[in-house]
Amino acid sequence: MARRKLVAGNWKMNGDLAALAELEGIAAAAVAAPGVDVAIAVPATLIAPAAARVPGFTIGAEDVHPADKGAHTGCISVPMIREAGASFSIVGHSERRADCGETDADVRAKAEALLRHGMHAILCVGETLAERDAGQAQAVVTGQLRASFPDGAASGWLSIAYEPVWAIGTGRTPTVEDVAAIHGAIRATLVDLLGDDAQAMRVLYGGSVTAENAASLLGAGDVDGALVGGASLTAAKFVPIIDAGA
Ligand code: G3H
Repeated sequence: MARRKLVAGNWKMNGDLAALAELEGIAAAAVAAPGVDVAIAVPATLIAPAAARVPGFTIGAEDVHPADKGAHTGCISVPMIREAGASFSIVGHSERRADCGETDADVRAKAEALLRHGMHAILCVGETLAERDAGQAQAVVTGQLRASFPDGAASGWLSIAYEPVWAIGTGRTPTVEDVAAIHGAIRATLVDLLGDDAQAMRVLYGGSVTAENAASLLGAGDVDGALVGGASLTAAKFVPIIDAGA
């Protein structure tokens, strides 16, 4: 089944008001590439100013709390990001799993909170280098996917991002064949979890995607887009990746 590609950026803990100028070039490139969906997740402090700066462009959050409100100091809820102008959030990024001890159950609850409010979720899974070297990459990734998969998921509300931890920010990527193999295993798991709707769910690749490697990674089997960190921070680096997905 032909799936429309999604090229999403993740600014992580980067960016300030001045950096929002980059969004104008990125939003213009998105308009010029109607065949691909484009989105950027920004730090919580930048959601409202980003949404105001590029109206009509898809802005998201990098994380959410599963509860709508309450005594959770420092956390941000789905209604809060929505009011600020976000229409989606990343959940389960490996940096949050590692830095904040997030479990599959936590990730699942966050995704379910987004789905409850009709917001899109990008759910991340990925193996460490030790797990890959031990030949466990597929088992780890599909295990994470099953354990963090939200109840009520549907292809219109959820995308999966395969991000090998060892490829994030390192300049290293799996081979196109390795990416296709993991994406195939994710697709098979989705079929098991969702039935027919699995064929419509997008599975993105993330980890050191650049202008140089985007075309080959986006062309790999079952790859429906990219989740891009460092190269999403400037229009000069991100626009060629959008164009590769178009
Ligand atoms: O969310 C994005 C990923 O962690 C990839 O980051 O493109 O800087 O390797 P990167």
